[in-house]
Amino acid sequence: MDKAQDIRDSLEKLRNLPTLPAIIQKLHVAMLDPASSASSVARIIEDDPSMMARILKIVNSAMYGTWEPIVSLDLAVARLGFAAITNIATSTAVFRTYGRDGQADFDRQAFWRHCISVGIGVNVVYERCKPQLARRHGKDVLHLAGLLHDVGKIVLEPHFHLEYMAAVLAARDGRLPLQKTEREGLGTDHCEVGGWLGARWNLAPEVLQVIQWHHDPYQADPQHQELVLLAHVANHICNLEKIGDGGDLAAPDLHPKAWAQLGLSERDVPSVVDEVVERSKASEVLLALYG
Ligand SMILES: [Fe+2]
Ligand SMILES: [Fe+2]
Repeated sequence: MDKAQDIRDSLEKLRNLPTLPAIIQKLHVAMLDPASSASSVARIIEDDPSMMARILKIVNSAMYGTWEPIVSLDLAVARLGFAAITNIATSTAVFRTYGRDGQADFDRQAFWRHCISVGIGVNVVYERCKPQLARRHGKDVLHLAGLLHDVGKIVLEPHFHLEYMAAVLAARDGRLPLQKTEREGLGTDHCEVGGWLGARWNLAPEVLQVIQWHHDPYQADPQHQELVLLAHVANHICNLEKIGDGGDLAAPDLHPKAWAQLGLSERDVPSVVDEVVERSKASEVLLALYG
């Protein structure tokens, strides 16, 4: 049996295999039900008061920039829509499943900061190139895709800690891409593992594509390629600028066609990078809201 299959089997067997809270499944079901209303969706979330409190804080944060405070979930669902609230609930649930405290040799706080900053970065890059893009996306899905792009690492690190840390060290010592040393040491990588997990969690297809292909955007399904490219670029910027720590010492390769494909020229790059750096300062605030 090959090593990737081994890890997949171990992941399946782990008794504490990360599942998202039942509330997320209920939200997915409600989203598909034409009889759902803002108040029926709000009632599902109210069953989990800490989730409810976090969602309200997030929708009122600078990230969503609402013009007047949203004080109830009914209003949040009515304003932002079912899908947005489900995406925000999913971010919150993933964060809560893994928390901010990890083992001493892996700085999970810095890791989350990387993930949240990529979520912010995807929004920044999207705003810049929106006129040139074929598809429109909500802030919530852009943020969720960025936040979860490296979700495979969040699973590999605690459950295969020794092997994973060996891959992280090999990447640091050899100045190699972490994805490469993961493959060598574990027989799989965070993109593949994240894909298995995301499928288990019923994540939206475009979010799954980002998780699977953010290092290799031209392998993505053509209909989701733009979103994957946005995450590819945002991830590169956050690594380059050392915002948080995604585990790579050197920024992962940027595909040479990525900027042009998004309709941006070389001249636009410094200002996009500056804006990602500036706006990512809010990652501390978001980290506090999720945690
Ligand atoms: Fe990655
Ligand atoms: Fe990353």
